[in-house]
Amino acid sequence: MEMNKEFVTLALPGEKTYEIPVITDSMGDKFIDIRALRKDTGLITYDPGFVNTGSCTSSICYINGEEGVLRYRGYDIEDLVKYCDFVEVAYLLVKGELPNNIERKRYADLLNEESLLHYDMQSFFRRYPPEAHPMSVLAAMSVSLSAFYPEMDDIDPELQIDFAVTRLISKIRTITAFTYRHMKGEDFVNPSYKYSYCENFLNMMFNSPVREYKIDPLHVKALNQLLILHADHEQNCSTTAVRLIASSEANLYASVSAGICALWGPKHGGANQAVIEMLKHALETHQSAKEMVEMAKDKRNPYLLMGFGHRVYKTFDPRAKIAKQLCQEVLSHNGFVDPLLNLAMELEEVAKQDSYFQDRMLYPNIDFYTGLIFRAMGIPTNMFTCMFAIGRLPGWIAHWLEWKQDPYQKIGRPRQVYDGPQLRSVKPLSDRS
Ligand code: ACO
Repeated sequence: MEMNKEFVTLALPGEKTYEIPVITDSMGDKFIDIRALRKDTGLITYDPGFVNTGSCTSSICYINGEEGVLRYRGYDIEDLVKYCDFVEVAYLLVKGELPNNIERKRYADLLNEESLLHYDMQSFFRRYPPEAHPMSVLAAMSVSLSAFYPEMDDIDPELQIDFAVTRLISKIRTITAFTYRHMKGEDFVNPSYKYSYCENFLNMMFNSPVREYKIDPLHVKALNQLLILHADHEQNCSTTAVRLIASSEANLYASVSAGICALWGPKHGGANQAVIEMLKHALETHQSAKEMVEMAKDKRNPYLLMGFGHRVYKTFDPRAKIAKQLCQEVLSHNGFVDPLLNLAMELEEVAKQDSYFQDRMLYPNIDFYTGLIFRAMGIPTNMFTCMFAIGRLPGWIAHWLEWKQDPYQKIGRPRQVYDGPQLRSVKPLSDRS
């Protein structure tokens, strides 16, 4: 990061001018460094939704929203999906480099050793109603890990990091699968050393004593690719939540649990569930793609096309491109037919031709096609956002660790533009109308 070579000038009416430094990042993008703004000028900035605010420096993820570029630690997302599995990408995000064979094996061994859930924690599931939303269970269980594994409260990055990280990545997957078994009223299936990370998840979800279950290699490939696609996305809503909680020096589990809660909302990770619900509702009520697009354009109607639009991408989300191909591959497998796929593809075409969507640069985002793939794999709709969370976990952890090592970080504490009343006096209760 280059600092203080360039300046912009801020001229306040009737006052002196101020030279404000400009930072250039490693890709050549420029940022006005306003850290001393209030001290020097008495002013603060107003930026709801942090649309124009860089909150940290980071070397984990690079996005070019205009050109549809996504890279983790400098590697293009298409290459990572093609040449790596999720465990390698998790290692890359957290440690900065892709593992060699020995490092990969050691990490996989740690993931295996950390995969069981504390016996007492298993009893928690029985206290949740089976119809509870799985994201509520996942958020509560992930923060509960800090009660059962308190040594993670104070991670020494040098010594404990692999141990702590693999524990979290492995157990969140186990918790998600156990949540599903509880929803179905079935016994838990424990993880097994025989299986890879993704095979284990599918086996814990779908193995059954009453029918043969064979892990489908295409589903393993699809799961690896989907988790990689979700693994990081720089300062999105949930990652910002993780960093904000980390900034109070709360532990890793508490920070990740906040990330899970932030992810849940339909404007963020919850969109994958919302897309399927929108498509299902359209089919049931015989809405055409054209009618859906017209409803989304109507400003009097809160209806949005779920799975469209993105704060950063102003072109096709590169993750959506890969997910669309994968969706066609998984759905054509074993003669699986999903009427929602045709509607989704038609909707994409109609929106693409529409000037409202063109002018606002609204394209399908990652959530538009992923739900269809999860559905074809047998994962219930209300668990899609948990799948996103499993994928995003290495990213959240990497950002948490990066925050801890960043000498410029401070507790997150934005300012506000106050528009409430001036000072008032309190009337006794009997005098209030
Ligand atoms: N359908 C219809 N119109 C939309 C949509 C949509 N999906 N998304 C944005 N717009 C419109 C807005 O109404 C606004 O119109 P206007 O300029 O006439 O007021 C314009 O496009 C710009 O949208 P903003 O809401 O200002 O964009 P913002 O960056 O704040 O929001 C977001 C991005 C939240 C993703 C939004 O596009 C959205 O709600 N999409 C649907 C939900 C979704 O798919 N979320 C998943 C995002 S990806 C992820 O988090 C993993």
